[in-house]
Amino acid sequence: MSYALTAENIKKVFKKNKKIVHALKGIDIQIREGEIYGFLGPNGSGKSTFIRIASTLLIPDAGEIKVFGYDVVKEATKVQRLINRVSVEASFFKKLSAIENLLFAAGIHGISKKEALKKIYAISERVGLDRERLNDPLEDFSRGMQQKVAIARAFMTEPKLMLLDEPTTGLDPRAKREVQSLIMHMKEKLGATILLTTHDMEEAEKLCNYVAIIHKGRIIVKGHTEELKAMISHRVKNPTFEDVFMEFTGVSFDEAEYEEAESA
Ligand SMILES: Nc1ncnc2c1ncn2[C@@H]1O[C@H](COP(=O)(O)OP(=O)(O)O)[C@@H](O)[C@H]1O
Ligand SMILES: [Mg+2]
Repeated sequence: MSYALTAENIKKVFKKNKKIVHALKGIDIQIREGEIYGFLGPNGSGKSTFIRIASTLLIPDAGEIKVFGYDVVKEATKVQRLINRVSVEASFFKKLSAIENLLFAAGIHGISKKEALKKIYAISERVGLDRERLNDPLEDFSRGMQQKVAIARAFMTEPKLMLLDEPTTGLDPRAKREVQSLIMHMKEKLGATILLTTHDMEEAEKLCNYVAIIHKGRIIVKGHTEELKAMISHRVKNPTFEDVFMEFTGVSFDEAEYEEAESA
């Protein structure tokens, strides 16, 4: 069995307004190659912190994390070549056009201009962007379109492990569906392994084959979608992830989000 990512006992502490925040309290996960692995958890549960560690932006206080066997801390450059990341707020040169942004990304990843243009035209078609609009500054695009371009841009570099941090948060329902279908399409076409974080239970169910529920810096339970539901099916008929969350944390998902907002 080959793993795209393994993490053992990952811990991270922050100091926030003189208070100590234990953002991650010992995360253990193993992501198999080819999987769409979901981190489902309320706001503040530690999802982005883990993604930032996996993408070499942040160093863990304890534990070991490897991407295709390379240590994320000690072999960061090797890891960087295998991954790409898209965060909630797509980061672009907003004054530059879509095509300039895409060519820039292609350039850093060593993709030739000719090859890049071929990919960019395929991308724009896929996300429903007219070729003429490729010359418009990114800031003139809707958030949904920006997010689609960001995801397509990240896949353009053909990462072996894609880290998608709340790729649909804050999008309207239609843009959300479009981004989800783009993710599934790209995954099918390129076959990357994906770690996706979300606080949308339906999204986790729709996109992920394996889900870890994270709450207050700990993984509460993990398994294949059907396994998770089967764990409580003797008590709840036709359980949803909401029921699974409630069963294992003792609070509803909304309550958990609210608690975090209160303590922030
Ligand atoms: N740079 C930071 N400095 C201080 N606290 C942080 C920092 N980053 C995250 N935190 C805190 O760590 C906890 C987990 O945050 P985060 O990983 O962003 O959660 P999520 O992505 O699940 O919403 C939160 O309590 C958050 O306030
Ligand atoms: Mg986050």
